[in-house]
Amino acid sequence: MCGIVGYIGDRDASPVLYGNLKRLEYRGYDSCGIATLDGKIHVKKDTGSVEEINKKVDLASLPGHLGIGHTRWATHGGVTKKNAHPHLDCSGEIVVVHNGIISNFSTLRDLLLKKGHKFKSETDTEVLVHLIEEKYDDGIEKAVRDALMDVAGTYALLVFSTREPDKIICARNESPLVLGIGAGEMYIGSDIASFLKYTKKAVPLDEKEYAVVKKDGYVVKSLATGRKLKKEIMEIDWSDEVAKKDGYAHFMLKEILEQPTSVASSLNVYPEDISKLALMIDDASRVYLCAAGTSLHAAMLGEYWFSSLCNKSVIAMDSSELQNKGVVDGDTLVIGISQSGETYDTLASMRYAKEKGAKIAAIVNVTGSTAARFAEHVIMQGSGIEISVCATKTFTSQAIILLRTALALAKKKKKDVSKIEKELLKLPDILEETIKLKNEIKEISKKYLTVENYIYVGRGINLPSALEGALKLKEITYHHAEGMSGGMLKHGTISLIDKDLNVIAIVPASGENRSKTMSNIQEIKARDGVVVGITSGKPVDGCDANIVAPECGEAISPLVFAPIYQLLAYYTAVNLGRNVDRPRALAKSVTVE
Ligand code: F6R
Repeated sequence: MCGIVGYIGDRDASPVLYGNLKRLEYRGYDSCGIATLDGKIHVKKDTGSVEEINKKVDLASLPGHLGIGHTRWATHGGVTKKNAHPHLDCSGEIVVVHNGIISNFSTLRDLLLKKGHKFKSETDTEVLVHLIEEKYDDGIEKAVRDALMDVAGTYALLVFSTREPDKIICARNESPLVLGIGAGEMYIGSDIASFLKYTKKAVPLDEKEYAVVKKDGYVVKSLATGRKLKKEIMEIDWSDEVAKKDGYAHFMLKEILEQPTSVASSLNVYPEDISKLALMIDDASRVYLCAAGTSLHAAMLGEYWFSSLCNKSVIAMDSSELQNKGVVDGDTLVIGISQSGETYDTLASMRYAKEKGAKIAAIVNVTGSTAARFAEHVIMQGSGIEISVCATKTFTSQAIILLRTALALAKKKKKDVSKIEKELLKLPDILEETIKLKNEIKEISKKYLTVENYIYVGRGINLPSALEGALKLKEITYHHAEGMSGGMLKHGTISLIDKDLNVIAIVPASGENRSKTMSNIQEIKARDGVVVGITSGKPVDGCDANIVAPECGEAISPLVFAPIYQLLAYYTAVNLGRNVDRPRALAKSVTVE
């Protein structure tokens, strides 16, 4: 994972880099550092978050108008000051920050050690800077390109040298990197949002490309041939304002409560884009919705909608498993679903499928991301920037795109889905009512979410809700939670029910799945379990507490229940004093395998 930034221009580089790094902390926050150039290379780095380190060592006070920075999510080497980036070569004249994994680092390290290089860290990254030092004879650009010829693995890296103080060299292979174009100044970042405060003009690098960046411009070239490439400049329409907390205690809370607006925006995504995706699904013999984590749970909702509304089998696939169990050929459609558009496994599944001749589509939130540029057909889900590591509003948006696509396909097949369509249009209002339950949810979390183990149970379209509810709780409270179908509960897990394990039951307003889940609740109560019901319309008999959303049909109920279990996890984490927006060991964008 990790986030990297660069700046070259007339401003003082370190305050710019410090601010831009703070926007990339969702990518990792165990240590960070900045290097600037002012005659010589100045480096400050340490363990902790960007803000903590700034308090300790005043990162933003380094001199110079050129610099690079890094916020780390450790892969190779523990969380120590030595392992924090930037890394210098032996002479102290070349400096590197890197996001990715150098897979042949130990071979390269042995080779470089034999040549007399002195290593100071345990990281894979440090081999890059020594390799560049080793190759340096005809300029930094050539040295970087020659070094990367010997490197296997993934990287987005930034390099500069005291010997050529007018430029930063950056390169990309399977880790994101974007140039931001200012007036007489240039920005570099792992994503566009990092420099959105300064410029809305961006050029994302593609695989195996590198750039020579100077204050008044840039040249992008192919790593393989060294030839100049023509790149399109993207104009970004995201506003920097949305990246602020607006008085909320946490971004997560702000983003949960934003859902009436974000779902309205996803309901407005162009119908033509949705219809095209529906046609692609209809034409394919096999369709895989490839995703990870929360996005995979949205994909699972899609599975239910496509089967129940269109009689079409669409498979939600853990993107890291497509190569192991997918049947992928020219008749296959792979739809990558990814908020960031940068998740390694999801991108790998899309690349694998393309190699096998499959068609590729994507549902993505981040403009200019790799998935958005890789797919033949892209739907931008329209959630706006999501800062909190824990995905909330982007989940409901992904689900809406899938539901709208299923509805479009159902209509093409002459099925009457008008009732669901009408209800879906009312979703922003229903969610407006739902989030009014927040104080009630806060109280229920204080009273009932006080143990260390939970089971979330749901049936049918609310099985993905149970899985997602459990994931939200786990990732930000560090308590254990499992999601499962009511059907599965008796096949082993029910033996866990006791005073140290509580159950959250997700129950639609009516129908078979309501009555069947109520039977599950009776079974749990018969074993003295505690059950909190999340439901719609009316309370569920037998539960110790109920959170009752406005009445809605079962098909859209997962969209209505989402803010409830998100808030339940949120308040529980707050009660436990957890770092809600930055849970331990996580990063928002998982760009390593
Ligand atoms: C959970 C969460 C993760 C992501 C997963 C995929 O709150 O955020 O599980 O959903 O890492 O990320 P994207 O959607 O960016 O591919």
